[in-house]
Amino acid sequence: MPHQKTILRALAGETLPTPPIWMMRQAGRYLPEYKATRAKAGDFLSLCYNSDLATEVTLQPLRRYDFDAAILFADILLLPQALGADLWFVTGEGPRLSTITDRAGFDRLKPVAEIHETLNPIYQTVRNLAGELPKDVTLIGFAGAPWTVATYMIAGQGTPDQGPAHALMRDDPAVFEALIDTLTEGTIEYLSAQIDAGAEVVKIFDSWAGSLKAEAFDRYCVAPIRRIVAELKNRHPGIPVIAFPRQAGDAYIGFHARSGADCVAVDDFVTPEWVAENVQTDGCVQGNLRSSHMVTGGDDLVRETRRIVEALKGGPHIFNLGHGITPDADPDNVQLMIDTVRGG
Ligand code: CP3
Repeated sequence: MPHQKTILRALAGETLPTPPIWMMRQAGRYLPEYKATRAKAGDFLSLCYNSDLATEVTLQPLRRYDFDAAILFADILLLPQALGADLWFVTGEGPRLSTITDRAGFDRLKPVAEIHETLNPIYQTVRNLAGELPKDVTLIGFAGAPWTVATYMIAGQGTPDQGPAHALMRDDPAVFEALIDTLTEGTIEYLSAQIDAGAEVVKIFDSWAGSLKAEAFDRYCVAPIRRIVAELKNRHPGIPVIAFPRQAGDAYIGFHARSGADCVAVDDFVTPEWVAENVQTDGCVQGNLRSSHMVTGGDDLVRETRRIVEALKGGPHIFNLGHGITPDADPDNVQLMIDTVRGG
């Protein structure tokens, strides 16, 4: 039977008259109701692990906007925490983790089989959402890609150039590769459990893929994602996967075939015309409005939104931002973007 949900149709390769739309970080700090619920939970991590409140914040943007998808409210750093890393968030700065700099640090991680003890509340959020979402809305689960998650586990925080991860790759490749393998296996188990709980699509975020070049890109971005996609499709035949190798640049070319992903999400460092010519020829693409338009709005937002829809109308396309919406965004601009995509 053909899919009814627009996102699933685009992921199956269908070119639709109007692209389906959702937004990275659609549940987030630009929404006052999100901030209120986070305050009720106490802090961001308590919110992630409180299934009822995480369900609530996932649904909040859908009450305001007619999005075609909901994305599970959680974080890519919950997997390291489930593997035994310490994790906390410093207000105004971002995540902090205990670091892995050598074999002893790697050996302290828990076995992959134990991650579910920590992650069970996340699966409960997925089950809640599968029961509560409007029938035309697609439920997206997600995880970080092994490379991006490893950059945080090695450095203990976000870094501008992922220097500590590159240093470990060079100085102790055996430990670095062991970490990538463990994260690959952990991500398979984590996403597989989300699918069992009701996720209809999964997305793999490789936010720092752009700092991997040439052979390193093949080994630590493409290969782990390919292994995850293949195993998920083996266990869950037909499950669609979106891969987001952010700032891959020319390496977006051929990424569908190399990774096995059904859809490649693109950032706003590439133009939609280039994407149409070089990436969409291989399958569904997602993207790629610059998120600063959600702050500035106006004619520029309308013009860029129309340009993206026009450039990508000849093939399967899911409209989205090029990266997550920021806390300083104006919620009215989100509505303007949606209206413009749907023909405004
Ligand atoms: O997209 C969604 O709405 C789903 C939920 C989601 C979050 N993080 C919630 C979140 C998703 C898909 C993520 C992915 C994520 N998390 C990535 C990959 C995507 C990307 O943005 O590149 C990364 C690198 C992380 C790690 C992370 N989490 C960082 C670096 C930060 C701090 C930066 C910031 O925006 O404050 C977070 C915190 C975070 N994750 C917030 C949210 C809503 C903000 C926390 C808060 O409420 O204070």
